[in-house]
Amino acid sequence: MDFELKTLTRARICTEKCDALVLLIPQNAGELGGSDDPVSQLAALAIKSGDFEGKAGKLLAAYRPHGVAAIRLVLAGVGDGSPKNIRAAVLAAIGSLKNGNAKRVVVDLSALGVLGSEIMRTAVVACGDAVYVYNTTKPKATPSAVERVMMAVPSATALSAAAAGFSKGVGLAKGIALAKEWANRPANYATPTLLAGAAKDLGKLPGIKVEILGPKEVAKLGMGSFMAVAQGSEEPLRFIVLRYDGAGKNAAPVVLVGKGITFDTGGISIKPAAEMDEMKFDMCGAASVLGTFRTLAELKPAINVIGLIPACENMPDGRAIKPGDVVTSMSGQTIEILNTDAEGRLVLCDALTYAERFKPVAVVDIATLTGACVVALGGVRSGLFASDDTLANALMDAGESSLDLCWRLPLDDDYAEGLKTNFADVANVAGRAGGAVTAAKFLQRFTAKFAWAHLDIAGTAWKGGAAKGATGRPVALLVDYLLGQAALAGGVQNSKPAVKSRGSKTRVSAKPSVA
Ligand code: BES
Ligand code: MN
Ligand code: ZN
Repeated sequence: MDFELKTLTRARICTEKCDALVLLIPQNAGELGGSDDPVSQLAALAIKSGDFEGKAGKLLAAYRPHGVAAIRLVLAGVGDGSPKNIRAAVLAAIGSLKNGNAKRVVVDLSALGVLGSEIMRTAVVACGDAVYVYNTTKPKATPSAVERVMMAVPSATALSAAAAGFSKGVGLAKGIALAKEWANRPANYATPTLLAGAAKDLGKLPGIKVEILGPKEVAKLGMGSFMAVAQGSEEPLRFIVLRYDGAGKNAAPVVLVGKGITFDTGGISIKPAAEMDEMKFDMCGAASVLGTFRTLAELKPAINVIGLIPACENMPDGRAIKPGDVVTSMSGQTIEILNTDAEGRLVLCDALTYAERFKPVAVVDIATLTGACVVALGGVRSGLFASDDTLANALMDAGESSLDLCWRLPLDDDYAEGLKTNFADVANVAGRAGGAVTAAKFLQRFTAKFAWAHLDIAGTAWKGGAAKGATGRPVALLVDYLLGQAALAGGVQNSKPAVKSRGSKTRVSAKPSVA
């Protein structure tokens, strides 16, 4: 999809030819962004009559309204104009258009006055979210109707206030779409090898380098725990290493580790059949790392980032690990695998040990790790665990600012009691109680050498039911965290902004092609 940012007064917007004009209108709007032009009068009439109150996400549509060049006019309420409500309004408005014939859409933000860059970013990301359609395994593709969205603001001042948010939104939309796409693909279209291919494609983008390790290299590294999970599958494992170099060589990187179980049957501790298909989403952590790198290539912040993805299937097989098997992790710690369905921690622990070599400032792992986290927090907030308060706070703040929320859960040592065993250094499961915390306690044993945080995205990475599909979370959270770290370290290196300016017109091409 193409995004454009442009200065257009309300009067001028009435003559702008497009397939649909979306007007964002606050509740109790005294100011509509215009007065005696047809669009403003129509909106004023709808408000006065009581048919449109501007409640967040509420729409009122008109076809070929008199005196307006746009074929369709959609009034979209934004309530108090908070980022959350802007998101709801844009999702509803663009969502209402995506199955119709509206290719070229103008979103008029002038009733919001001079908006902050956060609002613009939110609006752009919501557009991207709304138009995403999964098509890969559908022979008859049904792409979204909407191909181009122009964000219209009323003045040059408003444009310069929103420009940074606009580019950030466009970059984020690309990363989120990529994360959704790979997460949505069924396991036979997203094997460890194919996932590595997606990473290699990212390696063609400026600033990104990719290295793929296979079974031999992983064996040489001594990743006995990761290999143990992979040994039950015919699909060979891949260990993906991504590097984004945005800062000087000597700047210590942030390492992101994404769980890449391309399908989780549970292994010999096999899962029940109901909803097992959803375990194709067990690589959403990996997808979020790929999406984040896509956005980094776009926004070019001055920071170094490493992405690590241990990718394999968890299958039952003659060669599969059995409950009670003891394996030796790369760290040297032995692990008794009491439940082969607690495989995420087994692949992550070796990736965490591998992360040590980068002498990172921080390591954040992202994983669809536990059903217990879904029970605890549902689909609203991801679980956040951290051994370091500064890191925890930075991630919490990034979650709030990006509307990609998380919530901190505890790591008291008492929670690790259940991981004790007579047969190894540690067991891979404790009892049922506090399952999200005991999983985090297991991981923590492999993180002594750096500041570490863990995001359990089991509840937030995808939606089930009729709206089944990946959410692209927590790409927005991770990107905001990384941009924040880059800013702390001394500003954005980006001399060439992602936005190419031509006078008052700013255009960015954002085709939803998947890298
Ligand atoms: N991938 C699952 C976690 C999961 C389950 C995410 C359901 C989303 C929905 C993970 O590998 C797993 O199976 N965890 C087990 C751990 C248990 C055996 C200690 C779980 O949560 O049941
Ligand atoms: Mn599992
Ligand atoms: Zn799993």
